[in-house]
Amino acid sequence: MPAFADRLGRVQVAASVQMTIRARELRAQGVDIVQLTIGEPNFDSPRHAIEAAHKAALAGQTKYPPQDGIPALKQAIQRKFKHDNGLEYALDEICVTNGGKQAIFNALLATVNPGDESVIPVPSWSAYALMTKLCDGEPVFVTCPQNNGFKPRAEDIDAAVTPKTKWLILNNPNNPTGACCSAAELRAIADVMVKHPHVWIMSDDMYEHLVFDGFKHATIAQVAPELRDRTVTVSGASKAYAMTGWRIGYAGGPKNLIRAMVNMQGQATAGVSTVGQAAAAAALDGPQDGVCRADRRVPQTARHGGGDVERLQRHQLP
Ligand SMILES: Cc1ncc(COP(=O)(O)O)c(C=O)c1O
Repeated sequence: MPAFADRLGRVQVAASVQMTIRARELRAQGVDIVQLTIGEPNFDSPRHAIEAAHKAALAGQTKYPPQDGIPALKQAIQRKFKHDNGLEYALDEICVTNGGKQAIFNALLATVNPGDESVIPVPSWSAYALMTKLCDGEPVFVTCPQNNGFKPRAEDIDAAVTPKTKWLILNNPNNPTGACCSAAELRAIADVMVKHPHVWIMSDDMYEHLVFDGFKHATIAQVAPELRDRTVTVSGASKAYAMTGWRIGYAGGPKNLIRAMVNMQGQATAGVSTVGQAAAAAALDGPQDGVCRADRRVPQTARHGGGDVERLQRHQLP
């Protein structure tokens, strides 16, 4: 039998994906199951986004899109970065990706050489380590102690950085713990990173709207403008707008990194679905009252997310 690549042995199917497959099987068999495996919002994509996709398709926007994203969506992302995050990016400092996941993968693929290290505060979303390995790199884990609210300590990050470190990957708010560093805590991490100019910094802000009790989300490029030239900020439509299936993510960062990321994407998937991009532009530019927020009440009509919140309530789980 012809052989597989060595890299296949470096990654396994993530446990969360395995559990999701199992949960879907059980549901298909009619089992009433609470699924807490993947971050699936419990409400539908905004109607105006769905209508925008429909309209775009009927208007013939069904051809190959630009590999970095359609102008309407990139402009909407530019406005979003400015309004929500206080970040100003030129259009050539923004790219649209197939989900936030591809933005992360593109960035790693474009930068990681064999043996390079990604510093990853843990607990973390499993994808950062798996993707680093897929790019022939090595994950280096930094424990986020419980007595620090499961947040990374700047001194621990400092100690983890070596000459081989290529990335520091921050996830704010964190999946799975929900921990979220304040602007001051990010500033302390930034002070450490200033000392390590050979390291790229990624801020995965996919859950930026899921904050509680008036907490103000911050992102490292915002609190440390001096790191802007080596920081990529990733987010997407998946969680904010319950658009996980549309596969729309995006990144803002320095032009040279964004260009390299688009180059990687160009070889793998080329651009992103035109109708999905039209939908995401409408979601970003449209009314924001439907944005997924931590304090958002689940509508009675919630259907496609699987109704896990309702199931949780019915099972009276903690
Ligand atoms: C922390 C984090 N970042 C990024 C993603 C990827 O989001 P997307 O579905 O847009 O690829 C996820 C998905 O669960 C996630 O948990």
